[in-house]
Amino acid sequence: MTVTTTTSTAASAAVGTSHTRVEGRDKVTGAARYAGEVPLAGLAHGWLVVSTIARGRIRAVDTAAALAMPGVLTVLHHGNAQPLESGYDGPMGTPDPALQVFQHDRVPYAGWPVALVVAETSEQAREAAESLVVEYDEEPHDVAFGVGHPGTYLPESNPRFATEATKGDLANEFAASAVVLDAEYSTPEEHHHPMEPHAATAHWANGRLEVIDSNQGSMFVARELALLFSLDPAAVRVRSEHVGGAFGAKGCRPHQVAAALAATVLHRPVRVVLTRRQMFSLVGYRSPTAQRVRLGADPDGRLRALHHEGLNQTSTVHEFVERSADVARAMYDADAHHTVSRVVRLDVPTPTWMRAPGEAPGSFALECALDELAEKCGVDPIALRARNEPEVGPISGLPFSSRRLLACFDEGARRFGWADRDPRPGVRRDGRWLLGTGTAAASFPTLAGPSTAAVTAEADGTFTVRITAADVGTGARTALTLVAADALGVAPERVVVRIGDSDFGPAMIAGGSAGTRSWSWAVELAARDLRAQLALGGSIPPQGITVRSDTTEALGALPPRERHAFGAQFAEVAVDVATGEVRVRRMLGIFAAGRIVNPLTARSQLVGGMIWGLSMALHEEAARDAAFGSHVGADLAGYHVAANADIPLVEADWVDDPDEQDPVGVKGIGEVGIVGAAAALANAVWHATGVRHRQLPIRPDRVLTAGTALG
Ligand code: MOS
Repeated sequence: MTVTTTTSTAASAAVGTSHTRVEGRDKVTGAARYAGEVPLAGLAHGWLVVSTIARGRIRAVDTAAALAMPGVLTVLHHGNAQPLESGYDGPMGTPDPALQVFQHDRVPYAGWPVALVVAETSEQAREAAESLVVEYDEEPHDVAFGVGHPGTYLPESNPRFATEATKGDLANEFAASAVVLDAEYSTPEEHHHPMEPHAATAHWANGRLEVIDSNQGSMFVARELALLFSLDPAAVRVRSEHVGGAFGAKGCRPHQVAAALAATVLHRPVRVVLTRRQMFSLVGYRSPTAQRVRLGADPDGRLRALHHEGLNQTSTVHEFVERSADVARAMYDADAHHTVSRVVRLDVPTPTWMRAPGEAPGSFALECALDELAEKCGVDPIALRARNEPEVGPISGLPFSSRRLLACFDEGARRFGWADRDPRPGVRRDGRWLLGTGTAAASFPTLAGPSTAAVTAEADGTFTVRITAADVGTGARTALTLVAADALGVAPERVVVRIGDSDFGPAMIAGGSAGTRSWSWAVELAARDLRAQLALGGSIPPQGITVRSDTTEALGALPPRERHAFGAQFAEVAVDVATGEVRVRRMLGIFAAGRIVNPLTARSQLVGGMIWGLSMALHEEAARDAAFGSHVGADLAGYHVAANADIPLVEADWVDDPDEQDPVGVKGIGEVGIVGAAAALANAVWHATGVRHRQLPIRPDRVLTAGTALG
C-alpha cells in the first residue's frame, strides 16, 4: 500500500476525549496476566523468610529440616548466596543496601529478608519457610519516632532537593507580625498497599536474565539488576505488562533480587510473590512526620514570615527524606521564608516515595495552618490564599509556567456553594451530627524524565508504538494511544501501544506524576517524524518503517520555570458528637493540570487521589510495636484503607490550563489529587466542632477526647 493513504485522514482529535482503557476488556475478563500468574514451564516458587527481630545478627540458619521437606529445592541465605555488587537507586542517587539480599548477617529492622526457601509449589515453599529455624543474637532496638530524638540530623542537599531554603530575616518579621500562629502537626506511618502484591519471576533465557515483574519502570529495575549481578545491561530484560497499582512502592525490591539469585542457582524459573504482611517491611512506606508551622502575618493576613519544618524517620542503612516542608516554597510568599526537612535514623525499614511524597503530609500541616491563620485574622480562607498569591516562585524567583490556583478556587467555591458559608465553627447541627466545611490548596511539581520511543508504520496500515512506559492502573497505555493517534493523524484504533519492556529502551518511570508527560513527549516526537517521512510517499516494506525519538536534548533545553499543577479542595463533614465518628458528606476538587489527555481516566486519577486524602485524614495508620519493633495488625484488617462505605460523593474537575510555551502541555495528575485533601477535611472538622485536629488520622477516640468547643 502507499503511505499517502495512511496519512491522508484529517487530523484526529483523540486527545481530550474520553476513552475506556484499551486493555480494559483483557483485564475484566481475566485474559490480562499479572506478574504472579504468567505460566512458565518448570516454574519453581520462592518464599521469603524475614527477620523476627528488629536489630541484631543472624547466628544460624538451620536449613537441614527445611531441605528435607517435600518439594524443597534450596534455601538461600547469607551463608550461601552469591556475592552481589551494590545497586544504584537512581532517583535517590545512592545505592540501597536493602537490595543486597543475603549478603551479611546483620539485621537492621524487623521484616528484613534473611532467607528464601524455594520449592516445587508455592505451598511447599511456604510451609518450609514457616518452619525454617533462624537463630539471632538480638540487640536493643529503637523505633520510637518523635520530635527531640537525639539522632535527628539535617540531611545533605542534593541537586534535586535542597533540605533547607531560607529567605529574609525570620525573627524580625515575626516581631513585626500582628498575628502569629505556631502549631505542630503529625502524620502517621502510611503504606501504599496496591491491590496487586509485588511479584517477580526470574529465569535465564539465551544467556539473558529475564524477569517478569510488576513495577513502575522496567528499564529502572533492569538497570538495578544488571548492577547487582555485574551483568551487561543488554543481558537483562525486565517486562511488566500489567500492574495492579504501585503508588511509589514498585521499584527494585528484594524479591526480584531473590528470584534472580534462585533462578541462577537452580537453572530454572523462580517466582517470588510477597504476602500482604511482607509488604509492610519490604517495599517501603510513607514515614511518619512531625511538623511545625509558624506563620506571622499583618492583620489582613498578608504573610510576613513563613516557617515550616518537617521531621521524618529513615532506616540505619539508607536515607530517605520526606520533603514535607518543600511545598511552601512554591505555594506562598512571605518576606521571610524558612523551610527545612530533618531526619532521624531508627531501626525501621527505609521509607520511600508514596503518592505525593512530601506534598501529601506537608500540605496537611501547611494548609491547616493557613486555615488557622485565616480564623485568627478573621479572613475567609480563600481570600487569605489570594492575598498571599506569589507573582514568581517565592524562593526560586522564577516565573510560573502557568499558575491557575485562584481559578481553581473560584470555580470550586462556585460549585461547592462556599459563598453562603457561615465562618463560625460549631454552629450547624443535624440531629446528633455537627456539620462543617473546609477548603485547602493543592499543588504538585510538573516533572519530566528523559525518554525514548519508537513508532513503526506497519505494512498493514496500523502503527506500533514501543516505549518502556508503565501503566500502573492509571490508563497510561490508553493516554499514549491517543497522543500517538493525534500526532500520526489517524484514529486511535489503528495504533497499538506496547509498554513495560526494558528492551524498548530508556524511559521515565511511572513516578513523580511525570510518566504520561515524559512518555507522550517522546511518542509525539517519533510519531511526528514518522508522519513527515510517510508524507514523502513510497511504500512500506514488510518490516515496516520505524522512527525513534529521544527527549534528552529537548528536556535539557526547557527554560527554568516553576512548573506545577494546582488545585482547590473542598469538603463537607458530619461529626457524631456521641461516637466521635467523622463522616464525609462530599468532596470537590478543582484542578489546573495542563492538557488533560483522557478525561475519563484523568477524573479517576484525581478522584482516587482525593479518596486517598480522605483515607489519610480519617483512617490510615500503621502502628509499630515498641517492644518488637514490628507492626501491630500488619494486614488490611489492621491497617484500614478507606472502603466504599467510607466514601461519599467525590467530584473532581478541572479548569483550562494551557501553556503555549511547553512542548507537551501535559502536567501530570497522579498525585495532585491527594494534596490538600486531608487538610480540607481537617479544616472541615474544625468548622464542625470548633476543635483543631493536628494529628492524623482523626480517629473517633481522638475526636471524643478533644471534645467540641460547644462543651
Ligand atoms: Mo510516585 S510516589 O512518584 O511513584
